[in-house]
This record gives sequence, C-alpha cells and structure tokens, in this order.
Amino acid sequence: MIKPRIWITRRLSDATLERAQRDYDVVINYEDTPGTADQIIAASAEFDGIIPCHSEHFTAEVVAQFSDRLKIVANHSVGIDHCDLQALKDRGIFVTNTPDVLSDATAELAMLLMLGAARHAVAGDRIVRSGAWDSWSPAFMVGKQVTGARLGIIGMGRVGRAFAAKARGFDMEVHYYNRSALPEDQAYGSTYHDSVESLLGVADFLSLHCPATAETTNLMNAERFALLPQGAVIVNSARGALIDETALMATLSAGHVAAAGLDCFQNEPGGNPAFSGYDNIFMLPHIGSATKQTRDAMGFRALDNLDAFFAGQTPYDTL
Ligand code: DGY
Repeated sequence: MIKPRIWITRRLSDATLERAQRDYDVVINYEDTPGTADQIIAASAEFDGIIPCHSEHFTAEVVAQFSDRLKIVANHSVGIDHCDLQALKDRGIFVTNTPDVLSDATAELAMLLMLGAARHAVAGDRIVRSGAWDSWSPAFMVGKQVTGARLGIIGMGRVGRAFAAKARGFDMEVHYYNRSALPEDQAYGSTYHDSVESLLGVADFLSLHCPATAETTNLMNAERFALLPQGAVIVNSARGALIDETALMATLSAGHVAAAGLDCFQNEPGGNPAFSGYDNIFMLPHIGSATKQTRDAMGFRALDNLDAFFAGQTPYDTL
C-alpha cells in the first residue's frame, strides 16, 4: 500500500520522527528553519498531510494559493492562532492540535515565571554571575511572597486548571475568569468571576491562559493594568498578543505592576528589545512545552491524529 506523504516542518523529537518514518513517506526539515509561505503553498501540492508547529503561518492568503492534494494539517501545538481555521476548513482540510499533553509542562513553566518574577530572578542572577555581589542587607532584593497570595487566572482551560492545581500547592487563593464557570468537581473551591475586570481587582498574581484571538488581542492594556492591585505580578505563558507591551512597560515604570514573567511576546522569535531595560521582567524564549516527555507526547498526539485521518476516521483533536 502506498504510504501517505507527510511534510514535517521542524525538528520534532527523535521518537516522533522515528514513528513518522515508520508509518509514512516523510520529508523532514532537519534544518529546522520555519516554513515560509512559499514552502507551505508548494507543500500543498506535494503532500497529503503536514505536521507544522506554531512557526508556520497558514493565513487566508496562503491557503487561497493551495493546490488540492493537502488533506490534513496536524499541528504540533495546542495553539492554533497561526492557522486561519475557516480558510482551511473552507478548502475541506482537516485541522488538529495537541491539547492535554502539554498542560503540565506549560503550567510548570508558568510557575517558574511567577516565582522568578516575584523574587528578582533576573537581578539576582546577574549580580551573582557578574561578581558584583559585594554586600548583603535585610532590605536587599525583597520580593513578593507567593504562598497564600491571591492568584487570578484568565482562561480556565486545561493549562489554566493545571496551573491552578500547582498554585494550590503553594496555598494560593485561586480566582478565575472564564467564559463559563467550571463545574464544582473541576473548580476545587476556586472563585469564579464573570468579568475580567472583576478578577483583576483581586489578582495579586495574574496568569494568562487563554488563546490569542481577535477578542483577546491586547487583553491586558493600560486600563486593565490599572485595575490590578498595587504591586501585582503578571505572568504570560500563553501568547504574546494578549499583552499590550507598551502599556506593560508603562505600568512597570510607574511601579503599579511590580514584575512580569513572560514566555511569549508580540514579536517571536526575538521578543521586545525594550524589555531588556527592565530587570523586573523575567523572560524565557517560548519554551512552555519544551520538556522531552512533552515533546514526545505532542509528536505522538499529532501522529495519532494523522493515523486516525488516514484510517478513515475523524481525528481525535479535529478543530
Ligand atoms: C503551543 O502548543 O501552542 C505552544 O505554544 C508551542 O507551540
């Protein structure tokens, strides 16, 4: 039987590539450079399926130039803001993502960002590393305690819930905003707020866990930063589009928001060069799901979706 032809756009985990090569006629981009619009358009004529990452952009303009061969885009990501879902669906192309499997890794990273931002990780690391640490004082690098503090979560999907579970380990008082309240057996005593504004008023720590959509672009803007309690810490391990970065720098400079922990930025890769002037922004380069275990699980989930599709079934994670 002829194996379906699949393009894997980036260097996925070894176990994923091994399984993909066993089951499909695969072309792998070992150079690991992001797929360009032209490459994606060309791939639509040469492949039955693509496993892309969030670095490949399936815009409406790109999809409009597709040939007819491509049948499925099995994303190696939970976020799908790089895909114009409607444009792909209109062409009859299945689109899937990889939910669940990255929730713990991403929540762990959000915890790291929260703790690092709250406890001066950037300035502390720098002073020791540079050899400039020449005194100590009880007034030195005094941070904000996480244990027992009020935590606001925007977006109580899988990652938001995984983060809430970890935060409960720090005895945090969890509040959340979501489109709808969670059933009791998933809320574990967290307090539901029916508006972002209501949540912000109690969020000594705020963590963003919602997708980037037209509605959530610049969700955290100057007006909303002002609603946070004085000295709040903000964490973003979701998507850079959720934060107005100019407004973030303004509130940090004014001292209203004390610190930020960011794994994602409006501009990626690269981030915001102006942030480097802020020691109270703890930054990582979009590595929320980057653990070995999770990379294998994401790759396998994308392959499970392909397998289902080519077996004539509806893929599990069809969007
Ligand atoms: C995701 O899965 O959306 C992560 O951000 C990595 O792409």
